Amino acid sequence: MNRKIRDILKKKNKSKIVSLTAYSKNIAKILDNYCDIILVGDSMANVLYGMKNTHNLTLDNVILHSLSVKKGIRKSLMVVDMPKGSYKNITQAKKNAKLIKTKTYCDAVKIESNNNNFEIIKELVKIKIPVMGHIGYTPQFQKKFKVRGTNHNEINKLVKEAVLIEKAGAFSIVLECVTATAAKIITSKIKIPTIGIGSSASCDGQILVTDDIIGLSGFYPKFVKKYVNLNRIIEKAIKKYSKEVKLNKFPTKKNSIWKMK
Ligand code: KIV
Repeated sequence: MNRKIRDILKKKNKSKIVSLTAYSKNIAKILDNYCDIILVGDSMANVLYGMKNTHNLTLDNVILHSLSVKKGIRKSLMVVDMPKGSYKNITQAKKNAKLIKTKTYCDAVKIESNNNNFEIIKELVKIKIPVMGHIGYTPQFQKKFKVRGTNHNEINKLVKEAVLIEKAGAFSIVLECVTATAAKIITSKIKIPTIGIGSSASCDGQILVTDDIIGLSGFYPKFVKKYVNLNRIIEKAIKKYSKEVKLNKFPTKKNSIWKMK
C-alpha cells in the first residue's frame, strides 16, 4: 500500500485529516504545506468553468487540471475525482481510472456512490488504484441539494452504504452534507477515515472547496467558513491597475525595458 495512504489510515482516532481542493499548481503549492489530502474535485465544473452542475465535466478537463496540481505537490496525498459518466461500468471505470493514474501520477481516485457501484470500487482496488468513496449529497447522481441522514431510516441506509464501500476496499469516504448524528454513527462504525464536508466535527477529517474559503467563488452556504475575502482584495488591486493605466502612471520607467541590442 502507498505510504501516504497508510499515513492517512493511521490518523483515524488519532489526529484530524486536513483536506482541500485544488485545480492548479499555484494553489496546490500553498495547500501542500498544510493539507494531508489535496482533491482535484469535479467542483471545478461550477467553481472554475461556471457550469451549472458537474455533469458535463470531461475526463480531459480533470486530467489537465490534475497535471497542473501535481506540479505543486510534494507531500500531500493527491486524489482525483472521476467525472460523471467515466465509471458507468467496471470495464470503463478501470480504463479511465488507469488513464487518470498513469497520466497524472495521482495517488488515488474518488468516485461518488450511487449505492450500487461497490463492485467498481472493488475492481479498481484490485488493480491497485486506491479509491476514496463519497456518500450523502452526491452531486453527480442527485439533481437537488438535500441534507442526508435526517431520520433513522436514512441513517441506517447511509451506514450500510459506508460499510459496503469500506468492504469494497476504499481507503476513506467523503461524507457530504449528512447530519451530525449520521456522521457520528458512520464514523464510529467503519475503520477507514471519514472526511466531512458540511457534516460536523464528528468526522475524522474535513474537506472544503478552497475557492469558497478564500472568498473567490461567491458560494457561501452555512458549512463554509470564509477565512479571507480575496474577491475584495483582488478587486482593489485591479481597480488600481486600471486607474494607473488610464492616467499613464503605469508602466513607469522601472517597468519598461530599455536595453537595445
Ligand atoms: O468536487 C469536489 O470538490 C468534492 C468535494 C466537495 C468533496 O467532491
